[in-house]
Amino acid sequence: MNRKITKENPYKICFVCLGNICRSPTAEGVFQHLVNERGLQSYFFVDSAGTSAYHIGEPANSKSQWVANQKGVQLHSKARRFERADLDDFDLVLAMDHENLRNIQQLNGKIPSSERVKLLREYDPNPEDKAVPDPYYGGMDGFQRVFDVIKRSSESLLDELEEWIEK
Ligand code: 4NP
Repeated sequence: MNRKITKENPYKICFVCLGNICRSPTAEGVFQHLVNERGLQSYFFVDSAGTSAYHIGEPANSKSQWVANQKGVQLHSKARRFERADLDDFDLVLAMDHENLRNIQQLNGKIPSSERVKLLREYDPNPEDKAVPDPYYGGMDGFQRVFDVIKRSSESLLDELEEWIEK
């Protein structure tokens, strides 16, 4: 982290997966929910995107929405593709798995700073694995597991970032 977070200069985070319909919309919704719970809305801008164009314009997957809603989290995303300009625009870009991370890094033609582009599970206090597994072709249990991993990773991420807020 290299700067204070203020209302004048909110911290911009983009969560990225492949389709932008399952994992990254869940991360966007969960992180925004935590920000709202802590009354920190003025200090963060939260977004998500996908490395593929498969689902552009679509809302979050219905299973992702169902699992999130059970926990009181709403998913409002509309799928968009992650673009090269996002690498300059966001303070932090968090990929769900290694393939997403590689695809983001290749956009720039060079490896962007590892401080700004990394895996979400770098923040997981209990990382059996470094990737958030793709739930798309599996059952409800996979979506549940994705939610749990994202929730605890997002909590520890926000704990860390909160230290940098200047009120
Ligand atoms: P996501 O899941 O990357 O978490 O949004 C997927 C969504 C769609 C596909 C794969 C993964 N797909 O192959 O269409």
